[in-house]
Formats: sequence, structure tokens, C-alpha cells
Amino acid sequence: MVKAVVLGAAGGIGQPLSLLLKSNLEVTELALYDIVNAPGVAVDLSHIATPAKVEGFLPPDNGLQKALAGAQVVVIPAGVPRKPGVSQCSISDDLFKINAGIVRDLATAIATTAPKAFVLVISNPVNSTVPIVAEVFKQHKVFDPRRLFGVTTLDVVRASTFVAEVLGDRSLSPSVAVPVVGGHSGVTIVPLLSQSSHPLPSNLDTSTIDSLVNRIQFGGDEVVKAKDGAGSATLSMAYAGAEFSTKIIRALKGERGIVVPSYVNLTQEGGEALKKDLGKELDYFSAPVELGPNGVEKINGLGAITPAERVLIDAALPELAASIEKGVSFIQTPK
Ligand code: NAD
Ligand code: LMR
Repeated sequence: MVKAVVLGAAGGIGQPLSLLLKSNLEVTELALYDIVNAPGVAVDLSHIATPAKVEGFLPPDNGLQKALAGAQVVVIPAGVPRKPGVSQCSISDDLFKINAGIVRDLATAIATTAPKAFVLVISNPVNSTVPIVAEVFKQHKVFDPRRLFGVTTLDVVRASTFVAEVLGDRSLSPSVAVPVVGGHSGVTIVPLLSQSSHPLPSNLDTSTIDSLVNRIQFGGDEVVKAKDGAGSATLSMAYAGAEFSTKIIRALKGERGIVVPSYVNLTQEGGEALKKDLGKELDYFSAPVELGPNGVEKINGLGAITPAERVLIDAALPELAASIEKGVSFIQTPK
């Protein structure tokens, strides 16, 4: 029995993500919560011939608590997407406060209603919203770092797609696997192309590699610009969120050996070794993590990285540290 909950289920990401979760045969119960339209989305999805029982909830009558009761997996795509001209890292203070407040309130409800659930955070800025969830859970004395995940899978999916394009064969993209580490915004996104399952040609010129790295780091901008005011990535994000959720559900059900990049708290198995690799005291980082029935079993290190990748990681660290601090202080010292 797997109960999955989507918070922000009526949104651009929430609806297709809920559709994909309804298509997952392992999900037996799917609860959809939003401040608008969730019951309609739920009734629509409930006609699909798959096992999950679907219910939609709105804020009145403790709808959030009812949605969360008994949850094992909670995915959070609630929040406001950015507009063209706003970068992921310089996301405006107003937008930060809105999303940070939404995530804080949802985390409070999870901490009190479903404290053992695996929490998958999609809401931006992920580099700060994951620390926000952790701080709320700490305040409620229910924080288990193994169960909190920042969803960085869209960066991994983009890396597979764009590397296959550079290799000149799009049909390879489903099998191309590139570890993407760091965080989820601009320069904090670091693809380790040297560890690609499908190596790039050794004679590939530097400018092609630089453009590839840049496209993976700023793939979000490409979508925001193309949508021209109508939001950011929703469909590719729903695909990525469903991919990640499926792996979490498989691990929850006992499958071993699943390794997937995710932005996690480093005060757990493998975290100290990773901090040594990084050469910086940092509380959160996205790295390949080994999953088990209780969540993260071990955070893996960076492996053998090239000098160019080291430069990218060093460039990511200051922005990551500032974003983590911004999230932590939003809860610890609210202004
Ligand atoms: P959207 O505006 O289409 O949908 C957001 C939904 O959240 C809406 O339905 C809204 O009603 C709901 N919502 C707002 N406040 C809520 C609350 N308190 N409780 C429950 N639901 C609430 O936005 P979107 O395009 O789906 O993007 C959502 C978030 O995901 C944004 O923060 C965006 O930046 C982020 N995002 C992250 C990634 C990633 O890779 N992690 C990728 C794309 C987008
Ligand atoms: C993305 O990577 O597409 C998302 O984080 C949305 C954004 O604002 O870029």
C-alpha cells in the first residue's frame, strides 16, 4: 500500500505530475491538495483505470491534514513560478517570501500530521526551500535527514537529453546517465560530464563542452523565455518529478541498489566524506544518494572529477552557502 500526496496539485506541475502518479501501478492512494481546484482534478483523474483511489482536498475543514493523513510520500510543487528576466538565483525577495511561506506552512502540516513521510520538494528556490522544511521539522523535533529530498531530477533529465543531442543521436537520451551535483539554480548546477554513461568524444572542443554545461545549468531560462510570461517548466518537471517519485516508491517497497542524485542534508551517512571532497563546511548538497526503505542509506562522494569540474564546483559553493543560510534564517530569525 502506498499513499502519495501532491501539495499544489492543481498547478502547472501539479496536474501532470498527479496524472503520472495516478499511472503508477504501485500507488494505491493519491491525495491531491491545493488552495484551488484540487477536487475537480481528483475526480477527473479518478476515472483512469489504475488502482489508485484519488481524492481532492481544499483548505476548509482541515483539508490539508486530511490529505496528509497516512501519507508515505509527499511531493510539493506548490508555489509561484518566476517570470522572464528573473534568474533562478536572484529570484526576487517577494517571490522568495511567497514560496518560502507556502513551503513553511505545508512543512508544518506534514511535521504534525505525517512526520515519517518522505518529503520531495520541487518548489523553488530548492536550495533554500529544502533547508526551510528541515528547520520546521527540527522545531517539531521530527527531522530525519534520510527522508527529505530536494528534487533536482529535471537537471539530470536535461543532461541526458542535451548530451544525447551533442552525441548526435536523440534515441540514446533515455539511457544516457550523467550525475548532476551541487544545487538547483544556475551555476550551482554542476553536471559531471566526465562520468557520463555515454562518454563525449575526447576530441570535443572546449566551446562545445562549455555550451553544453551552460545549457544544463540554465535550461530553466530557456523554458521561461519561450513561455514568455506564462510560467516556467511544468511538463518536463512533472516527468522528472514522477521519475524521482517512482524511484522513491520502489526503494520504499524494499528494492535495493537505487542511486539517484538529490539535494539532501549532509548530516547523515556519507555527508562528512562528501564535505571533505568539497573542501567546505556545507549542510546541503545535491549528490548521488543510495536509497533504501528508510530513505537515504548513504550519500555518495563526487568520484573522480576533472580539473574543469572542480572549477565548476568551487564556483557553486558560495551561492549554495548563501541560499542555505537564507532558508535557515527564514525560519530561525523571521523578519
Ligand atoms: P503554478 O502557479 O502553475 O502552480 C502552483 C500551484 O500551487 C497552484 O495551483 C497554486 O494554487 C498552488 N498553491 C499556492 N499556494 C499553495 C498552498 N499554500 N498550498 C497548496 N497549494 C498552493 O506553478 P508551477 O509552474 O506548477 O511551479 C510551482 C513551483 O515549482 C514554482 O516554485 C517553480 O519555480 C517550481 N519549479 C521547480 C522545478 C524544479 O526543478 N525543482 C522545476 C520547475 C518549477
Ligand atoms: C527549472 O529548472 O526549469 C525550474 O527550476 C524553473 C525555473 O524557474 O527555472
